[in-house]
Amino acid sequence: MSVRRDNWGSRVAFILAASGSAIGLGNIWRFPTVAAQNGGGAFVLIYLVFVVFLGFIVMIGEISLGRHTQRNPVGVFRQLAPRSLWVAVGFLGLAAGWGILSYYSVVAGWTLSYVFTTAGGTFSSGISAEKINEIFLGTIASPTQAIFWHLLFIMLTMGVVMGGVKKGIERWSKILMPLLFVLLLLLVVRSLTLENAHIGLKKYLIPDWSKVSGNTLISAMGQAFFSLSLGMGTMITYGSYMHRRENIVCSAGWVCFFDTLIAVLAGLAIFPALYTMEGLEPQAGAKLIFIVLPGLFSQIPFGTLFGTGFFLLLSVAALTSSISLLEVPVAYLVDERRWTRKRATFFCGFIAFFLGILSALSLGSVTGLSHIMDIGPRSLGFLDMMDLFFGQFSLTLGALLIALFVGWKWGTRALIDEFSSSESRSRFSGLIAFQIRYVCPVVLIALLLYLILNPNAFA
Ligand code: TRP
Repeated sequence: MSVRRDNWGSRVAFILAASGSAIGLGNIWRFPTVAAQNGGGAFVLIYLVFVVFLGFIVMIGEISLGRHTQRNPVGVFRQLAPRSLWVAVGFLGLAAGWGILSYYSVVAGWTLSYVFTTAGGTFSSGISAEKINEIFLGTIASPTQAIFWHLLFIMLTMGVVMGGVKKGIERWSKILMPLLFVLLLLLVVRSLTLENAHIGLKKYLIPDWSKVSGNTLISAMGQAFFSLSLGMGTMITYGSYMHRRENIVCSAGWVCFFDTLIAVLAGLAIFPALYTMEGLEPQAGAKLIFIVLPGLFSQIPFGTLFGTGFFLLLSVAALTSSISLLEVPVAYLVDERRWTRKRATFFCGFIAFFLGILSALSLGSVTGLSHIMDIGPRSLGFLDMMDLFFGQFSLTLGALLIALFVGWKWGTRALIDEFSSSESRSRFSGLIAFQIRYVCPVVLIALLLYLILNPNAFA
């Protein structure tokens, strides 16, 4: 029965830390990829709708649960619904944290290795798309390389989580996140001035509604939860460090805004390049940005410098996210099982590392792992499968259960009391309560049912 005494220093500190968790590979690696696979424009619009009507609301629910109880995701349910099955939602979150971290760290490892590849001048002018492809395959298909970078990244994550999240990461995020933003803006400008940029731009911005199916909805929703770090208790944990006087609705709004801004910008940088450079196909999946962006770097002045900076900052963005993934099971072991922080971090980190080895080996080095299942036209390897199962399915399920818990078990009265500031009830309180009680569960149940009837829908 431990109570957290820690608090974020200020509202800005919370917004920064939560945005640091939200903004990561999900925005720059996953969003453009999923958008490209789903036809672009229409997907982007649907995504925005989901962020506002589902993501934002579930985020308010998660933060409120965390701040109210000051506990970790398992502790929350133990306190608010003692001796009930609800606690399983907390454990589902822990499992998802491990599952996502295991492959997230593999992709982040590629990012890390690209800092050095780019710095070495590999992507200087005149390099062909085939060559870029080859370099990427060389990185990920070599078992030693893939595992080495994965290990390095997970050790960095463990180092930060062990040493205390607040001072290190908070301070660094303050400098590095704005820098990432500026670099991304510059990339967008370059991408938009490419010859024939309009082809990709049209794909990205003009909705083609004929491409929209249930699958598009499912992917957009999964992406929204993933990108906003929802559905597994990360925001519960971060909310538990939040001070009583801070405004939850406003803070959640800022986090959703920043996260969406970065994702939309990443799409603007990638789509024009994707459709103008030869030898690239939009279905590229996990490897998309590692091939498209180096192509872009090879076409700009100071491309090496630019590219190195970009991959470095992306690694940092990934780090501020991966620590929030690791923090969830660690907080549970420390709070509920009385482990030391060090022991819990080692234990959780190494489980994620060993599980991640399978993902690391699934892109070329071990054929058995590179084709696990086929979904529609795509064949999924182990990494894609983990992303599907943990990064989409269990987050959706988690978000549904959290919405049901808040709306029906904990109650909207308690929710409103928690997120309204003492002086004034927000004008939107009633609306938010209505959404979490009715809209979110109905939409999520409909989508999950659709998914069960059409297992091929995840793409
Ligand atoms: N949101 C992060 C990203 O976009 C990834 C992430 C961090 C996450 N914590 C999470 C995803 C919790 C789901 C749940 O890269």
